[in-house]
Amino acid sequence: MFESKSGILLVGGLGFFAFAFLSNALVPALLYRHMPEQTTAQLVASNSNLMYQFENLSQRYPESFAAHFGSPTPENCAEALELGRRVYTGEGCWHCHSQFIRPVSREADRWGPVSKTYEYQNELQRPVMFGTRRVGPDLSREGGRRSNDWHAVHFFKPTLLSADSPMPAYPWLFHGSPDKPNKRGLALITYVQWLGSWLESYPLYEAYAPLPIPRSKILPGASRAGDQNVATESDSSEETSTGGAAKESEAKESEAKESEAKESEAKVSPPESSTPKSSETTASEPKSSATGSNATESSATEAKESAATKTAKDQPDGSSK
Ligand code: HEC
Repeated sequence: MFESKSGILLVGGLGFFAFAFLSNALVPALLYRHMPEQTTAQLVASNSNLMYQFENLSQRYPESFAAHFGSPTPENCAEALELGRRVYTGEGCWHCHSQFIRPVSREADRWGPVSKTYEYQNELQRPVMFGTRRVGPDLSREGGRRSNDWHAVHFFKPTLLSADSPMPAYPWLFHGSPDKPNKRGLALITYVQWLGSWLESYPLYEAYAPLPIPRSKILPGASRAGDQNVATESDSSEETSTGGAAKESEAKESEAKESEAKESEAKVSPPESSTPKSSETTASEPKSSATGSNATESSATEAKESAATKTAKDQPDGSSK
């Protein structure tokens, strides 16, 4: 038997299985046997970030919350967490989302600190949901990254917030509309806000500057100059805002940004009939001297040059801006 190919494979296979059991189950179990597993109640008691989110839920969805959880006490929060975890497993969120930041591929830059063993040493991590696939982003640092109402709308219909999202909609977590989450919906939001909220520096995204969303996706026809304005403004506000205030004002900010974008759009592109676009004329000025010999272009640039002198006259300081 041991001389045949299949015999060697059998012994090898069993051997590796035994080795994996030893190194991945027995050794860690013995190594951490003095570290008691935390209960959900303990997790809630030591986590004010989570209680903040739970209270916020009670204020945002007062009717649903009162009907399903009553008041935002730590006991109710523990109940919501446990239910939320069951919903997360039951809906198969772990098919597409991992919960483990690996110490490779600069994952810490993307999501936050690399996952540590102690983070998995509690009741809510049984079984752990490391996940094997990442169709969506890792969620182990999701807590506090988005507001509660963001999650509600996203679970109701992901494409409302993330165009072309392949994430399924979960309308059965709501009473018909995204502002009426049911018990399971509220519980799932609590669970998602818990992920990573146990870390000391929270939220982790103070210095995180998202890529500017192309204006064309939000405001059809918005100009380039307006684009840059909005991008720099949103960056600076992202850096200065901290903590809970950032979460609270997230929705307001995006509204403000949109109105700012509209304003700046109005500034850079005045009605065609009055003055020619100032940004265009400045751009064409150096070009006109360089390519003056080009016959086809010169007529066009001449027209623009006269436009430029006209703007220069319009502006008392002579600048065309
Ligand atoms: C088919 C795969 C798939 C399934 C199943 C899935 N998601 Fe997602 N999820 C995604 C993708 C892709 C994204 C990124 C695009 C987006 O934001 O919708 C995402 C985004 C998210 C985000 C936003 C992350 C962020 O901050 O940008 C959260 C939170 C989330 N999913 C939670 C869940 C929960 C909870 C469930 C289960 C109820 C779930 N997902 C099920 C694919 C999936």
